[in-house]
Amino acid sequence: MPTRSRPRTACCWFYARLFGPTYAAATAAVREMAEGWPADRPLNVLEVGAGYGSLTRHLLPLLPADRTEYVFTDVSRYFLDRAETEFAAYPFLRCDLFDLDRPPTAQGFDGRSADLVIAASVLHDMRQVRRTLAALRSVLAPGGVLLLVEQTTFHPWFDLVMGLQQGFDNFEDTELRQEHCLLDRAQWQQELTAAGFIRSELLTTTGGPASVGFDVLVAQGPAVQRRFAPEELRAFVAERLARHMVPAQLFALDELPLSPTGKVDRAALAQAGRRGSVRGRPARPPRTDRQRKLVDIWKEVLGLNQIDLADDFLELGGDSLLAARLAAQLQSAFGVPVPVRTVLEYTTVEALDGHLEQLLGPSEPITEER
Ligand SMILES: C[S@@+](CC[C@H](N)C(=O)[O-])C[C@H]1O[C@@H](n2cnc3c(N)ncnc32)[C@H](O)[C@@H]1O
Repeated sequence: MPTRSRPRTACCWFYARLFGPTYAAATAAVREMAEGWPADRPLNVLEVGAGYGSLTRHLLPLLPADRTEYVFTDVSRYFLDRAETEFAAYPFLRCDLFDLDRPPTAQGFDGRSADLVIAASVLHDMRQVRRTLAALRSVLAPGGVLLLVEQTTFHPWFDLVMGLQQGFDNFEDTELRQEHCLLDRAQWQQELTAAGFIRSELLTTTGGPASVGFDVLVAQGPAVQRRFAPEELRAFVAERLARHMVPAQLFALDELPLSPTGKVDRAALAQAGRRGSVRGRPARPPRTDRQRKLVDIWKEVLGLNQIDLADDFLELGGDSLLAARLAAQLQSAFGVPVPVRTVLEYTTVEALDGHLEQLLGPSEPITEER
């Protein structure tokens, strides 16, 4: 007897009903983009708030495996660990922490290199939607596209079910969102324009007040993006100012951190500077066990999410106090004396690793787990 194929559980059925048309619209848009993508151009995709990867799993099979880099991010490491296992069949996917409530530059995401940014059912969780939209525009490559899945209709019963979800009451921008965290279709389009996207389009024709109201929107970033070139700026300043006035460190921030009274929050500014990326590309992963340990210690001491093997301790905001902490932690991790002057002499993970190799011998290469 023929059996009707149907989702296995009530929950699956509910989700299929809820997201089916939405994901179909999102998938069609990404398929079209991937099919039209030039054969000689890498395709850089950044997914934010990717969570369980409900949309990701529909998109990955559509992307050209030989030239895609898909960065799967979330604020919680829990989801990244899951995704590494679930999406192991896609070697072009890598996972990273990314908090949408914090400036991308402070987290190593300042490359302005994403051709496609995907944000599915996450942006309404943001504290300040305008700030997050501006941040996402800033990581887009020229002409890059933001694809949003958002609930654009608020139903009172959300207070009972969705409203209890973590994040639903995070919003602080009460000048924009008074009663609840959702924006309607027109508001999203207005906010996208205000954030500097040159055009936006609604891809879902159903949805809206008559349904549960999940919509798909795409927005295109400007074709020309301003590029922050710290070395050029340093040279410019050095020609005009006395040597002692040339800043030791230059970094781009989307906005100045302000205290509740509206003044520049100098402590937060110093912190952002310490975390400011000087790289403009993702960190290369460690190759050996010892490099992995070194990277972990550096991250902890400097309070950073990412460390490249060639990042310079002092350029990342390391100072003599942090050098002393780093030296103590290295000493305890590797069981050899590490004076502070060693840390100040070998200022990259690569250099320090080379130095430790002289003392401890070679370290085990990290074997690929995929
Ligand atoms: C409703 S889930 C959506 C997950 C996924 N995009 C999907 O469609 O299945 C929201 C996700 O956003 C993440 N999230 C919440 N606040 C965030 C933030 N500030 N930055 C980045 N991700 C965040 C949560 O951890 C969660 O995985």
